[in-house]
Amino acid sequence: MAKSSYFTTSTTIVALLIILLPKSYSQIAKSDHDLLEFPLNLEYLEAEFFLYGSLGVGLDHVAPNLTKGGPTPIGGQLATLDSVTRDVILQFALQEVGHLRAIQSVVEGFPRPLLNLSAATFASVIDSAFGIKLDPPFNPYSSTINYLIASYLVPYVGLTGYVGANAKLEGATSRRLVAGLLGVESGQDAVIRALLYERAHQIVEPYGTAVFEFTNKISALRNKLGGEGVKDEGLLIPPAEGAEGSITGNVLAGDPNSVAYERTPEEILRIVYGSGSEKVPGGFHPNGGDGNIAKSYLHK
Ligand SMILES: *[C@@H]1O[C@H](CO)[C@@H](O)[C@H](O)[C@H]1NC(C)=O
Ligand SMILES: *[C@@H]1O[C@H](CO)[C@@H](O)[C@H](O)[C@H]1NC(C)=O
Repeated sequence: MAKSSYFTTSTTIVALLIILLPKSYSQIAKSDHDLLEFPLNLEYLEAEFFLYGSLGVGLDHVAPNLTKGGPTPIGGQLATLDSVTRDVILQFALQEVGHLRAIQSVVEGFPRPLLNLSAATFASVIDSAFGIKLDPPFNPYSSTINYLIASYLVPYVGLTGYVGANAKLEGATSRRLVAGLLGVESGQDAVIRALLYERAHQIVEPYGTAVFEFTNKISALRNKLGGEGVKDEGLLIPPAEGAEGSITGNVLAGDPNSVAYERTPEEILRIVYGSGSEKVPGGFHPNGGDGNIAKSYLHK
């Protein structure tokens, strides 16, 4: 009698908890939670860069709820783009809005962190990549070719993060979401790389430097900042580093078996902060990222 009433009570409590807990929380393994919310740091960055570039306004206008009240980014601008590029970038922007919604529908997430999308932030990345101060400073918003080069900076980092996260996820729902995000993120990277590849030998004025050299130097910088070896490759590389060790053209990056590289959240923070340290925010995230993983390295 005592036993059966114990069972009835505990069953009722469990049933109540299941009803009261948000649906998402009951679906997502606790260990998956931090790995799923971490990419919001990059998805916010991509959404805002692509929205501002193609429309001149950001999430505050297009999907204010998805910002969860985070501060308006600094320095985003409408880019000077040809019509095909503007169309493609607007599609990417809207895809990123969907990605934010998809992630926020399975984990609570966090408000949009402060983002610095000013031309000067991109100029400082490019200066670091070249090891000299370009004059005039590189402006991502001033032409189609400059915007595509700046876009080379963004989805690839997310892609490597999703490859890295997938292996660590427990739940089927989590893995399905990350595979789906990875698919589209890789597609965006492939389109950007293909548009740049067509222009690989075009000279970026007024610097007298070819497009492929920008990509090679940006990839080398990311390898250096990430600090875990080669996980990034430009558009034209020594044949030994190309597919099957035998080709210079490198429209897509991959390891010696052409399998996508992976990066940890720590490597990603070192790159997007531009500091080479997950503990030293800066670059696109002046106050650092949010979520348990990024926050665990701040204020220490
Ligand atoms: C945004 O939030 C407001 C207030 O909570 C709500 O009324 C509205 O339906 C939301 N819009 C979308 C598109 O989710
Ligand atoms: C944005 O980045 C640029 C370049 O690093 C910097 O000069 C500027 O102060 C930054 N703005 C903020 C508010 O952090």
